[in-house]
Amino acid sequence: VIKMTDLELAGKRVLIRADLNVPVKEGKVTSDARILASLPTIKLALEAGAKVMVTSHLGRPTEGEYAEEFSLKPVVDYLVAALDAPVRLAKDYLEGVEVAAGELVVLENVRFNKGEKKNEEGLAKQYAALCDVFVMDAFGTAHRAQGSTHGVAQYAPVACAGPLLAGELDALGKAMANPERPMVAIVGGSKVSTKLTVLESLSKVADQLVVGGGIANTFIAAAGHNVGKSLYEADLIPTAKKLMEECSIPVATDVACAKAFDENAEAEIKDVSEVADDDMIFDLGPNSTAELAAILKDAKTILWNGPVGVFEFKNFEAGTKGISEAIASSAGFSVAGGGDTLAAIDQFGIKADVSYISTGGGAFLEFVEGKTLPAVAMLEERAKG
Ligand code: 3PG
Repeated sequence: VIKMTDLELAGKRVLIRADLNVPVKEGKVTSDARILASLPTIKLALEAGAKVMVTSHLGRPTEGEYAEEFSLKPVVDYLVAALDAPVRLAKDYLEGVEVAAGELVVLENVRFNKGEKKNEEGLAKQYAALCDVFVMDAFGTAHRAQGSTHGVAQYAPVACAGPLLAGELDALGKAMANPERPMVAIVGGSKVSTKLTVLESLSKVADQLVVGGGIANTFIAAAGHNVGKSLYEADLIPTAKKLMEECSIPVATDVACAKAFDENAEAEIKDVSEVADDDMIFDLGPNSTAELAAILKDAKTILWNGPVGVFEFKNFEAGTKGISEAIASSAGFSVAGGGDTLAAIDQFGIKADVSYISTGGGAFLEFVEGKTLPAVAMLEERAKG
């Protein structure tokens, strides 16, 4: 693909599609991770003397209708403070916007525009007419073929990948395409069914596949143990068995259980063979955590998606904390992605020690599944000339 950093931007009308889909509460941004990740791209374009327009979606408003709660206004307020410069929010921009060189204008939520999600040609062409250069930098939305991601990339005079998108593709590609070995993948979360394609894909790439959370319970059951009242999927036991034949998937030796899903429930540590009919497994036990930490210590590549226990509960955070710390102290190349994973990284303060933290949720998973990200495919198409 063509990269933004290879282009001359001075005086050009540059439209950056970022993923500024951040959580907002009472008009304030409550997690700025995605804005922080997009700032270097915006600054580069401003410093190059471009006429900069940045746009994004925020939330899932009813398409074609303005709704204040989904406005990018809180993001604009954040940018004003972060850049210490005036930033304009343009509401009606499809017919054209005036932007001066070195100025930044944010174009209001693209999902207020009719045809955005359906990737309608007319809208895509309107976006394209706004700019000389379209910069696709929204890795988090690259799995969506929508007007402001895919359509505009098709029709803009020049379409390129921004530094954030390029960095994501490099880092994730390094972990998935030709990883230094041993490669260990960790997949946590509640259900095998929702992560099945991720598990299948990783079982082909990883030397060891560590499963956690509700997903692990199905594997524990597949190994012939009682999981009591734990969340698990009986119908996927054959699938779990098949995956265990294809890849080394260590099964927990001990687990942390309780009788109720309750924040204050005491953790009872049990050997995995001793789970009772009324037990619920909420975390790895200390032995399992230590065994996995040892595996991670020797890993040259680590890919992490999903917590391995109910880490929101103090009594059941130890497994995810132990795994986080093992990843943090590993000398290997580590990549983490997905919403809950980032929350765990924050909670255990290991942000600086993970080699690469993806801004993608769904897009990260689709990349790992080996799916083509449509917006990236369009940039590749355009680069062919
Ligand atoms: C995300 O948060 O995963 C992206 O911003 C995409 O949002 P969407 O699922 O509403 O398309």
